[in-house]
Parts: sequence; structure tokens; C-alpha cells
Amino acid sequence: MNINNIRADFPLLAQYPQIAYLDNAATLQKPRTVIERETAFYLKENANPLRGLYTLAQHATEAYEEARDTVRDFIHARSSEEIIFTRNTTESLNLAASCWGSFLSQGDEVLISVMEHHSNLIPWQQICRRRGAILKYVACDEEGTICEEAFRAAVTPRTKIVAMAHISNVLGTLNDIKTFARIAHQAGAVFVCDGAQSVPHIPVDVQDLDVDFLAFSGHKMGAPMGIGVLYGKKELLEKMPPFLFGGEMIEYVTREDATWAELPHKFEAGTVNAAGACGLAEAIRYYQSLEFDRIVEREHQLGVYAFEKLSSVPHLRILGGSAAEKHHGIFTFVLEGVHPHDIAEILSADDICIRAGHHCAQVLMQHMKTPSTARASIAFYNTEEEILRLAESLKTVRRRMGYAE
Ligand code: ALA
Repeated sequence: MNINNIRADFPLLAQYPQIAYLDNAATLQKPRTVIERETAFYLKENANPLRGLYTLAQHATEAYEEARDTVRDFIHARSSEEIIFTRNTTESLNLAASCWGSFLSQGDEVLISVMEHHSNLIPWQQICRRRGAILKYVACDEEGTICEEAFRAAVTPRTKIVAMAHISNVLGTLNDIKTFARIAHQAGAVFVCDGAQSVPHIPVDVQDLDVDFLAFSGHKMGAPMGIGVLYGKKELLEKMPPFLFGGEMIEYVTREDATWAELPHKFEAGTVNAAGACGLAEAIRYYQSLEFDRIVEREHQLGVYAFEKLSSVPHLRILGGSAAEKHHGIFTFVLEGVHPHDIAEILSADDICIRAGHHCAQVLMQHMKTPSTARASIAFYNTEEEILRLAESLKTVRRRMGYAE
């Protein structure tokens, strides 16, 4: 991998060469090809897809459906009907919770983990409240691992849904989704996987994992903001009621009633983000041009380097796993005596971008007894030099806050 060539593919990185962008878990920068593809839709193909009968609208529909096929191939779904375009992971998980959750009854259980992002937690809280179901949590240990025994013990005959992050957006833990999905299925539950942090960083095969639903966002893998995906097994999507009601999701409407369109359109009410979907397909092609295995290898190399450099910063403690391999490019830390917001601001003065706060995972923060943390997250286009700058800048933070060392 020639990092200089790769960085040249990202206009923003070229625009601000002084910036070390280490907030990739929040959003990835966009390759030029993606920006151009989204623009090309508006320049050459724009018409409302799925509706118009004229040639331009047919081109828009073809581009949109071609994007769906590209996503299907990328995550190895059986059929394009199983790919629902949404705005983002949050909307995908709300869709799953609201629609499949509508089958919950009084006393049924939904099992999630303590490390869930709020988007895989609040939708379940809300649907459980509405249906009289019980929301249960499986904990992780100090290393950020959810062990199989703890998971087995948390699943009961009343468990109807299990929802879990593939990779934690705070700890970087890779959960053993394949095993957990198998255990959930043995208990008769469906398994919902939040792939927001995994799909952009490791190959994900929905058939191999055997998850019932997988949610992810385009923007964390270089696609435009505002396009996301919910994969669902066809037989489950067919059983579910629609999420939103309106244009293009119907088959037939009378004054009193309506019937629903075939998959996937039943879940795509209103005008869709076709340009965004085309951008997502282009982002997937960009990943394929780099070769996913090499992306994984490069991010692994950078992760090992980052773990070593961050571990050498005095007074700094990394949350979660005690080995680089456990982090999948996500390093959340505390620096003794310094509020994470101060860390982020001081680093910003050195042109280093990281995230600070609770990372939309307050239940995990409570579990870890740490209200707020700082997080650096890497991507294949980062360099060792940027990581070194991060570590060197962190070494100065306490002094800049007035500590003697
Ligand atoms: N979910 C994104 C993050 O963890 C925004 O930063």
C-alpha cells in the first residue's frame, strides 16, 4: 500500500496537510471518486427513481438499484430484496426495533450489551416500554470482552431479540457475533447486529455470521452522509409491518386501507437518497480497489503502533483490552487529572482531531465508572507520523494544564 497515493485520493486530506485526522470512528474522509459519483448523479441522472417512466427516471432507478446490488455483494446477502436503504445506522436500528419489536409481548426479553451505542440501546428501551417487555444487559469484563458463559447465562427462554455491536465504538472490542447469534437462535431469538464500526474495517459476511439483521452507515466508510443500510433476512422482512408510511411503499390504497409494496420498497417510503446510494456503491468500489485484506493489514499495523505509543504516555490509561489486537483501531483513554474536553482542545491546537465525551455510550461509561473519555480512531490512510504526533502532543497536555509533570 502506497500511503501517499492513498492520501492523494482524499481531497480533504490534501486540503489540510497539517491536520492529523484521528476521528475516523465518527466519520471517514471521502475519496474523490465518491464525491464525483454523487455529483455525477445530480449532473447526469437526476430524476425521482422508482416512479418516472421516462428514460432519465429509468436511469436514476437503474443507478439506485445497481447500488443496492453492490451492497448485497459486499456483505454477501442472498438477495437485493434484503438490502434496505436508510439514512444511517441509527435509522436502521430504529427500523428493526420498531418493526420486529412490534411482535414483543408482555414479559418477553430483549438482550443487549452494556457497550451498545445509544442507537442500539434507546430504540430497544422504547419498544420494550411500549410492549411491556424487559430490557436486559450482558456485561463485559475489564478487557472489554463479553465472554460466552456470561452471554449464555443472560439468554433465557423468554429472550426474543438480541442486539449487539459487532465492534464497540468505544472499546474497539470485536464481539463473537457468530457464536452469540447461534446461541440466540437456539433460544428462538432473532439477532440484530450493529455493524457501524465493523463493516468499514473488517470483511462482514451476513450469511457466515448468520445474523437476522445488520445495520451500518455509509459515511463511516467514505460514502456521503445520509445513506445507511439495514440488511434483514427476507422471511423476517416479509413478516414485519412497515416502518414509515407514504409514497412508493404501497401496493394499493383505498379510503380505508392500504397494502404494501414488495421488498425492499415496503421499507423505503418517500423519495430516496439515490445519489447517496450511488456514493456508497462507489465507496465500496474504492475499498475493493485497495483490497480489503490490505486495508485490514494496514489498520492492524497502525493499531499496534498506536497502542505502543499511547501506552508510553505517562498518566494515560487505555480503556478495554490490554493488547493492540483487541482495539480494531479504536483507542479510548483517560489522562489522569485532565478532562477529556481539555485534552481534545489542546490537541486541536496542535491540529490533531480526536473525539471527547461519552461517545453516545453512557451506559458503558457508567459500567466503566468513567463519565468521560478521549478517543483516537484510525483508518488505513493515517500515518505513523500522525500517531507519533498524537502521542507527543499528549505528553505535553498535563504540563499545559499546569501540572509539574
Ligand atoms: N457513532 C459515531 C462515534 O462513535 C458518531 O463517534
